[in-house]
Amino acid sequence: MPSGNQQERIAELRQRKHKLMLGGGQDRIDRQHASGKLTARERVALIMDPNSFQELSVFAEHRCTFFGMAGKEAPSDGVVTGVGTVDGRYVHLASQDFTVFGGSAGEVHCLKIVDAMHGSLRTGTPFIFINDSGGARIQEGIDSLSGYAKVFYANVELSGVVPQISLICGPCAGGAAYSPALTDFIIQTRQAQMFITGPQVIKQVTGEVVTAEELGGAEAQMHYSGVVHFVADNDEHAIGICKRLLSFLPSNNLEDPPLLPGEYSLEPEPALDEVIPDDPKQPYDVRDVITRLVDYGDFMEVQETFAENIVIGFGRIAGRTVGVIANQPKVFAGVLDINSSDKAARFIRFCNAFNISLLTLIDTPGFLPGVSQEYGGIIRHGAKVLFAYAAATVPKVSVILRKAYGGAYVAMCGRDLGADRVFAWPTAEVAVMGAEGAAEIVFKREIEQAEDKEAARKQFTEQYRNTFSTPYVAGAHRIVDDVIEPNQTRIYVAHALESLQTKRELRPAKKHGLIPL
Ligand code: HXC
Repeated sequence: MPSGNQQERIAELRQRKHKLMLGGGQDRIDRQHASGKLTARERVALIMDPNSFQELSVFAEHRCTFFGMAGKEAPSDGVVTGVGTVDGRYVHLASQDFTVFGGSAGEVHCLKIVDAMHGSLRTGTPFIFINDSGGARIQEGIDSLSGYAKVFYANVELSGVVPQISLICGPCAGGAAYSPALTDFIIQTRQAQMFITGPQVIKQVTGEVVTAEELGGAEAQMHYSGVVHFVADNDEHAIGICKRLLSFLPSNNLEDPPLLPGEYSLEPEPALDEVIPDDPKQPYDVRDVITRLVDYGDFMEVQETFAENIVIGFGRIAGRTVGVIANQPKVFAGVLDINSSDKAARFIRFCNAFNISLLTLIDTPGFLPGVSQEYGGIIRHGAKVLFAYAAATVPKVSVILRKAYGGAYVAMCGRDLGADRVFAWPTAEVAVMGAEGAAEIVFKREIEQAEDKEAARKQFTEQYRNTFSTPYVAGAHRIVDDVIEPNQTRIYVAHALESLQTKRELRPAKKHGLIPL
């Protein structure tokens, strides 16, 4: 039996806790700060509402005896886990402590993370994982791999049930990158790197020379790979992004997203009448439309610099969260290609899983033609968008701003992919293809036989444009519900979303569909 009276035991407890709170010690904390990073516990304190955090398995310790580990202390086994509130709503969290064995993930470390994840699952609360780790704890060998695999398994159990957000605030190497990849959103700081194999291994295997930053820095993992959804300047910024993101999301798949109470103006927005240039070939920035449709112009763009020909993100209309998917005419004319298809499809599926209505803004000339696109699998990548929209049962409202050509019109949530409302601006061109291309095919013989071929081409192009490059044929065929003045769009969309809140759509029971991959 331990010696000492009550007061002595309390003093001992305090001393033990004080030591735990210092993680790997003051020297390592200083090193963490010097590298521009916060400690695991500082990050927790910043993300959670004051005094709301309850830590779990505080005294957990590793039980490894290999490679001199016996007797070595690993406070909280290098990861802080627990539950608390963010802006008044509960979340579960794990925050790796780089000051303890480089935040490396051993058996107990991983079991703690899985416990917190199961807390999320049981209580229907989001899970946040702050990664700062050298990966699997080398001394623990296969036990750390087994631990990581349990985390991955739990990631999949949670997927589609509660939102999962990963913050990458330090190294994230090897298989460790796969836990974030299995979550819904990744926020990476500019101090962090993420890769499957680092520069040294790459040099050995392929001979390529690359720096860690070039390979796995936040910009690279956003711009080239599309792995990352948000880039943060530092830890504080990453936590701010995480809180803002949570504000748009429900806590679980059985809840609706939070409805922000307040007065929302539903007035005409005359500036929208000026967005589309008179010349149909002129580009414009679709964000100028989005920010005029969402409440207070508050739009949280996701994957801002990946596949910029499509814009995705969250906003609110009359207080309700909407997921916006918009072709971006400013980049490659808003064409749909492999990366933009992947980007859109994944976002649509996230919104559908968490009861977030979809607002689609259409201005696209179609799918990008080309050998590299075909060899890269544009058929199966593009099909993901079709699949995701058709499978989505949340309210779907589409607005055709300008070009809605060909398969891309269908793919961008046209009426027949289940759009509940389709509105079109007077500038909308709903057609199989652009007027120039169509005239060349339909009137090929007439153009060839004409004395003045150029004049004939112009005349037939004009004829096709006047017939199909308007929204009115689509309106006559019930493909468009209404042609509206751009300035009225926010009002129409808000009314549509309001009236669709009780939407129910039952599909035949099945294990799961097979989205093209
Ligand atoms: C045990 C580790 C560790 C690890 C770092 N440390 N990584 N201990 N297991 N994986 C320890 C270091 O020994 C050191 O301890 C402390 O953490 C800080 O590390 P430093 O190297 O001093 O820091 P830094 O220079 O910032 O470099 C950080 C790093 C580097 C880039 C993460 O440590 C590194 O490359 N580590 C190994 C990465 C790796 O190969 N991980 C295994 C991946 S395989 P002291 O006591 O000196 O402070 C994997 C498979 C998972 O993850 C598969 C799941 C299916």
